[in-house]
Amino acid sequence: METILFRHNRPDRTVTFDEYLAAGGFQALKKALSGMSPDEVQQTVIDSGLRGRGGAGFPTGKKWSFVPRNLPGPRYLICNSDEMEPGTYKDRVLLEHNPHLLVEGMALTSYALGVEHAFIFIRRGYEQAASDLKNAIAQAHKAGFLGKGICGSGFSLELDVHLSAGRYICGEETALMNALEGVRANPRSKPPFPAVKGLWGQPTVVNNVETLSNIPAIVAHGPDWFKGLAATPEGAGTKLFCVSGHVQNPICLELPIGTPLGEIVDTHCGGMRPGSTFKACIPGGASTPYFTREHWAVPMDFDPVAKAGSRLGTGGVVVFDQTTCMVAATLNLTRFYARESCGWCTPCREGLPFVQHILEKIEAGRGDLADMDILRDHVHKLNYAFCALAPGAMGPVEGLLRLFEDEVREHITAGRCPVKG
Ligand SMILES: Cc1cc2nc3c(=O)[nH]c(=O)nc-3n(C[C@H](O)[C@H](O)[C@H](O)COP(=O)(O)O)c2cc1C
Repeated sequence: METILFRHNRPDRTVTFDEYLAAGGFQALKKALSGMSPDEVQQTVIDSGLRGRGGAGFPTGKKWSFVPRNLPGPRYLICNSDEMEPGTYKDRVLLEHNPHLLVEGMALTSYALGVEHAFIFIRRGYEQAASDLKNAIAQAHKAGFLGKGICGSGFSLELDVHLSAGRYICGEETALMNALEGVRANPRSKPPFPAVKGLWGQPTVVNNVETLSNIPAIVAHGPDWFKGLAATPEGAGTKLFCVSGHVQNPICLELPIGTPLGEIVDTHCGGMRPGSTFKACIPGGASTPYFTREHWAVPMDFDPVAKAGSRLGTGGVVVFDQTTCMVAATLNLTRFYARESCGWCTPCREGLPFVQHILEKIEAGRGDLADMDILRDHVHKLNYAFCALAPGAMGPVEGLLRLFEDEVREHITAGRCPVKG
């Protein structure tokens, strides 16, 4: 199977700059700067069908095309490496394995967008990755792949690493821009979208680490090659799946996008642990509704996962076995979101702690059947929060009520957990 992101992997350490160069690193940047216009790079990414890997799956080239062409002043590119969602750790693995891929991807994206100053906004806990990135940037500078007049062209780029303030909301793209500007990290209202009015009021593109790390291969090999890597006819490229929970071999893997859930668990993660049987999983990071055994054959690509009632999200798969109390699992996730609400809007600030309270009551055996309707009502109402944090938080709650209704009801009527006893 062909890989892009883990192609240069060394099993136990970070790929060196020289190894990256020897394996064809920075050839795509040279190719673009010597023979492609910025518009041609952008069109190549549009044609490739690449969809953002940060959670929402928005088409990457289309997002780039929203940047106005003739607005005066600078425009910016930000790599979102905040990665605080429980169960998602793919960006850390990717950065620790090969930071050079991201540097080249950001240089190509900056060329396509006319950006001269780009930022990598990275989670404060990712010290190793941040230090690897700073080294990679210094080496790229020294070799003439960053700085003034890159590879003898008229294109110049500076790249800075910025440590996040350390809250989950800082990963939301508009809150992220506030954090970068040094003010409180609340989300901003959209429109205007960042592509038009972003960092310091200027056009700004925010893309995820995995998204940007795909750009060099797309430019080097072309859109058709990229599309051909997918396991689904409508998909494009590979996808990082970071698997955790009750499997034999929890691992971060690069597989064709659209690889079925069952194949990921059984073939690539060695199946379930001894004595464990698959009960459910979070398919795409903590904000996505659960999948059960009935979803075993679902191709893990954006559209098929959405059609099956969940979201591909980040590709963070958390597997639960038969001993898992789904009320307790959902409560655990809700506690995270309630704690991480930035407090800016009332539905999120007041709603999430209330949902937590109801789940705590049910989990402790003090629930009431009417609580199920209260939860359903909140799943609906929290969609009207200011940003996507609260609707995301309701993903597992919605999945709990739809897929494990009997388990919740039994929990309430028996006054104790039917799984744990
Ligand atoms: C609360 C919240 C947290 C988020 N955290 C991240 C994150 O850590 N990394 C990320 O890439 N996107 C995160 N996102 C999504 C970003 O807002 C944005 O859509 C993404 O960075 C765009 O990148 P892409 O187009 O390459 O997918 C978050 C969104 C929300 C609502």
